Amino acid sequence: MLDHDTVGGESFYDALNVGSQRLAVGVVNRAGHGISDIDRVVTPIAVSENQGGTEIEMVGSGPGTVAQLKTAAHGVETDVRAGSGVAAARFLVHITKLSMSGSHATPDLPIINTMWSNLWRTVWKGPPIAAATPLHLFSPAFAAPVDFLATRILMADTTLMDKLVSLSKRRGFIFQSSEIYGGLGSVWDYGPLGVELKKNVKDRWWHAMVRARDDIEGLDAAILMHPKVWEASGHVAGFTDPLVDCRHCKNRFRADDPRIKGTAGQPDAQCPVCGSKGTLTEPRLFNLMFKTFMGPVENQAAIVYLRPETAQGIYVNYLNVLNSSRQKVPFGIAQIGKAFRNEITPGNFIFRTREFEQMEMQFFVKPGTDVEWFDRWRAWRMEWCQELGLTAAKLRFHQHGPDELAHYAKAAFDIQYEFPFGWQEIEGVHNRTDFDLGRHQQYSGKRLEYFDQAANERYIPYIVETSAGADRVTLTVMVDAYREEAVEGETRVVLGFHPALAPIKAGVFPLVKKDGMPELATEVYHGLKRRFPVFYDDSGAIGRRYRRMDEAGTPFCVTIDGETVANRTVTVRHRDSMAQDRVGLDQLEAYLHERLTA
Ligand code: GAP
Repeated sequence: MLDHDTVGGESFYDALNVGSQRLAVGVVNRAGHGISDIDRVVTPIAVSENQGGTEIEMVGSGPGTVAQLKTAAHGVETDVRAGSGVAAARFLVHITKLSMSGSHATPDLPIINTMWSNLWRTVWKGPPIAAATPLHLFSPAFAAPVDFLATRILMADTTLMDKLVSLSKRRGFIFQSSEIYGGLGSVWDYGPLGVELKKNVKDRWWHAMVRARDDIEGLDAAILMHPKVWEASGHVAGFTDPLVDCRHCKNRFRADDPRIKGTAGQPDAQCPVCGSKGTLTEPRLFNLMFKTFMGPVENQAAIVYLRPETAQGIYVNYLNVLNSSRQKVPFGIAQIGKAFRNEITPGNFIFRTREFEQMEMQFFVKPGTDVEWFDRWRAWRMEWCQELGLTAAKLRFHQHGPDELAHYAKAAFDIQYEFPFGWQEIEGVHNRTDFDLGRHQQYSGKRLEYFDQAANERYIPYIVETSAGADRVTLTVMVDAYREEAVEGETRVVLGFHPALAPIKAGVFPLVKKDGMPELATEVYHGLKRRFPVFYDDSGAIGRRYRRMDEAGTPFCVTIDGETVANRTVTVRHRDSMAQDRVGLDQLEAYLHERLTA
């Protein structure tokens, strides 16, 4: 097991992600800057015992990587070539011997050596399973091989997060963005199963917010908005993280990075990457909004931002929706859409990314009733999370203290989930008061007051906001659903999704590819496909087909066998219990429908 206490000492690899169980090395990556080779061998690592050896999974990321990791024992050779731009690559090595070579054309070798040796020292734990196994690093560019101090082989678990990343790729849930070019840092693409899973999450949210209620309207506002919106919202001035730069190695860190020793800007401060003292700048504010230009001229006047939250699209449309829908306060507007943040410390797979989707609802209420609505929405949102099938004991509220509150909030609660890397926010419920509408009224010069005819009074409504990340909830659903079970001497991996969220509702299999079974199975498949997403599979042993569906989280498998041909009944196998029922073909659709909607 990993011993995180030993992480956090003096080395470069203090960057190991202390809070999480994965061995992520969080080096800030800056194209064109930094200590080139170190930038390029940034490394989340999973380690597992495999075929008598130890397998390490790494992700190298950075611009222009040319590094080779060779494994002497298996003869596997992986060439990590990233070209230009930010890149990432995933590769496995067997570490009987680890060699690294390539065009390290900069005098970084001592630092690379420190990096690797610190890595091994930090990572390898537990009793030796082989006497002193030296690891060698060499670079033809520098000639001399370097022996590592790894005298112990580590006994580390592949963490749940790493397993999810690899299952996601294997089964088509989530892929690294631009993978063939080495990937783009903290940006992910959803594959065939992932897009369905996330859509099911969003559909449930939309149904609960818009379809099932009379007092909430839907909206789909544009990502690009008038730049004044972001001045009014406070994002231009306030949506910032304090960062420090190392003048020596050119890396950039959050000012509160726990790896920084001493006070940034002072002579005693030490850079966590190159170890230089006194080279860290004073903290400077860095805005997290992505900028681009509208129109052909790239000047200050043409700057527009990619929205960092969807909420502002709702505020600027509040009167349009109110007037066109003839709603009355209290009422809400719901929206699902992309948001972008140039996060300094993204990570943990799709937990914190730079491009993500939000599911936000703004509820407009009369001032003075805001606390009561805030409490109601808090409770409703927790219920919604539980109805996704998430383990209740892994959900809790976290109330923001005065120093945590966002600039717009009078009160805020996070709904947190207990991830393998700790309790983390999946949704926020905020009492935003009249801050947003008040500011938009001030900046736009347009009256945004509500006229309450019954009471003959005007006011700027208060807003209770519920804001969840669609990607983060999808990750939560996957983490919560993942389990491994020992079945007949083998490990069965199951994603035990709530049936409403499962991307595929049923697998349809002919037991064998003869005796009329494929024809009948095809007929069953097309019949079910009219109602549910189903998957036809006739390849491999039936047990393997079940396992593949278990990993995809498919709640039912329908097998057409000899009996089906004789008496038109099929076997329905349940994912969780693995129990099998015999069901008449004429009952099959109703049987599945009843269980999928239970
Ligand atoms: N409009 C309020 C707002 O945006 P927030 O707490 O910054 O509040 C709300 O974000 C939710 O959006 C979070 O609870 C999280 O689920 C999601 N979210 C925020 N930043 C994210 C990121 N970088 N990657 C993925 N999801 C993110």
